[in-house]
Amino acid sequence: MKDIIFATNNAHKLEELRQILAGRFNVLSLADIDCHEDIPETAPTIEGNAVMKAQWIHEHYGVDCFSDDTGLEIDALGGEPGVHSARYATDGHDNIANINKVLTKMAGVTDRTARFRTVIALIMDGELHTFKGEVEGRILTERHGEGGFGYDSIFQPVEGDGRTFGEMSAQEKNAISHRGRAVARLAEFLSSR
Ligand code: IMP
Repeated sequence: MKDIIFATNNAHKLEELRQILAGRFNVLSLADIDCHEDIPETAPTIEGNAVMKAQWIHEHYGVDCFSDDTGLEIDALGGEPGVHSARYATDGHDNIANINKVLTKMAGVTDRTARFRTVIALIMDGELHTFKGEVEGRILTERHGEGGFGYDSIFQPVEGDGRTFGEMSAQEKNAISHRGRAVARLAEFLSSR
């Protein structure tokens, strides 16, 4: 079975990808290849960051690899937090502070439309391929649900039944989510190789 590196240390994402590609690819993490450095993520777009991370691993380790990057784009905030989604409120990954910043900025705003966008960048046999996934939704005025992570508790997908991502099971969320869709496209491509 062919090895492929997923440029992440997020155990949850890694497990998800291992399940999807089971029997076809041996998905390894950054820790598995002994990479403990901070990979640069300084591009101005999520696509740029996904490509930057995959290219960095390829250049330094010479292996087939893929990386992902996600952003929440809120129309009334001109696309913010976008590429800054992880560190919107503080320098750390403080989900509650990020949500509070969004809710404060959105106070009294009637246009609540937003979307999550994920880009996966794959480098295979020296060639770059990208896979995208999006989900449209609305930003609620308060948090609903304890599940998921990040902005899940204030994001209500258009295609759902009114629940936020934070109120759905992982399976329900993955079936319609930005990352679920991008991963499905990656898996389809890898299956054809
Ligand atoms: P990353 O590129 O996957 O690390 O995502 C960047 C940031 O976007 C995260 O720190 C979260 O705040 C947010 N985010 C990414 N994916 C999701 C999701 O599925 N639900 C809610 N927030 C997310």
